[in-house]
Amino acid sequence: MNFKLTEEHLAVQEAAREFAQNELLPGVIERDNQQKFPAEQIKQMGELGLMGMMVDPKYNGGGMDTISYVLAMEEISKVDASASVAMSVNNSLVCWGLENFGTEEQKEKYLKRLALGKVIGAFCLSEPEAGSDATSQKTTAEDKGDHYLVNGTKNWITNGNSASVYLVIAQTDPEKGHRGINALIMDKEMDGFVVGKKEDKLGIRGSDTHSLMFSDVKVPKENRIGDDGFGFKFAMKTLTGGRIGIASQALGIASGAYELSLAYSKERKAFGKEISKHQAIQFKLADMATQIDAARLLCLKAAYLKDTDQNYSKASAMAKLYASQIAMEVSIEAVQIHGGYGYVKEYHVERLMRDAKITQIYEGTSEIQKIVISRELLK
Ligand code: CAA
Repeated sequence: MNFKLTEEHLAVQEAAREFAQNELLPGVIERDNQQKFPAEQIKQMGELGLMGMMVDPKYNGGGMDTISYVLAMEEISKVDASASVAMSVNNSLVCWGLENFGTEEQKEKYLKRLALGKVIGAFCLSEPEAGSDATSQKTTAEDKGDHYLVNGTKNWITNGNSASVYLVIAQTDPEKGHRGINALIMDKEMDGFVVGKKEDKLGIRGSDTHSLMFSDVKVPKENRIGDDGFGFKFAMKTLTGGRIGIASQALGIASGAYELSLAYSKERKAFGKEISKHQAIQFKLADMATQIDAARLLCLKAAYLKDTDQNYSKASAMAKLYASQIAMEVSIEAVQIHGGYGYVKEYHVERLMRDAKITQIYEGTSEIQKIVISRELLK
């Protein structure tokens, strides 16, 4: 075993850290208050190579491994989880899905732009009545010979309005159940494609979350990903890797909250000394650091298994389950360590606490991760 990061890994980590501190931190409170999508910053992240990190350079990607992706996601998420969810969806759902299952034409037309962050993508699986129960798709994609006619509604779509390319999961043949589902690439400009209401959320308020409505949208057959009926498996395979992204996001939220708490505990005085000299605070810091280390190891293990072409389904579910749980716990303790200051926006930890909650919900709730893990254990 080797726990040492390579020079390249350290360079990626450092670049992401610098970008987060210099470019994301300054406006993050304002964007959270105003629910403003970090459009300019996402463009810069594209230029830095953060939006298509793992994509082959021949499709304009960074050609990096998943370990680099985990390291960068952690750094960006320490500061701005709204930016990092856009990064995660674009990298590990949209780009990865297209690169691994798309046709050469689809890669030329869509992946090359997505990998540069010139445009961003969205992954459209959830519906008003199909969240965890993802096979119950009500959106239909009727086979019309040379095209599909798509009708339905998608909910809680990350990058809902900011995206240009949408991977849409829809039911073509209900009699075949999940084997009758297709994954289709939609352009925002297609007739009948309507961006619905923007969600007013507890956390990741800078992230652009919308419902989408499709009314007789004509999607050419060449926009189908994989064979007829591959759509549900496409979604599952893609989410397996996506969960490494969200686990790393949760890790970053936790380590961001911890780093702020550690620094604050050395400055703030109570009862005649810095609060870091009180054992009550020391024990909190010890617990936080231990939980973060464990979460980081789970994320890196899942990334390593993916990079070495081994089964990473259980590992990615474990990483997401645990990292999201400790993101909640650590960020709550961070607010506690900051006391009254922790409850106000200026000190960042209350935002991190609000942002942490979604990591236990999206890309499969904690309960879904337990289903995935236990199924693997009992195989
Ligand atoms: N890889 C490949 N295939 C898989 C798979 C995987 N990881 N998991 C399941 N499948 C296949 C199964 O083999 C099965 O195919 P066959 O019948 O041909 O063998 C098929 O998919 C159906 O699987 P199940 O019978 O296990 O289906 P299920 O109804 O019991 O549900 C589930 C499985 C794991 C609960 C799944 O529904 C699930 O993951 N739900 C959560 C959905 C989710 O994560 N949503 C997140 C939305 S996206 C998002 O949040 C993005 C964002 O914007 C941030």
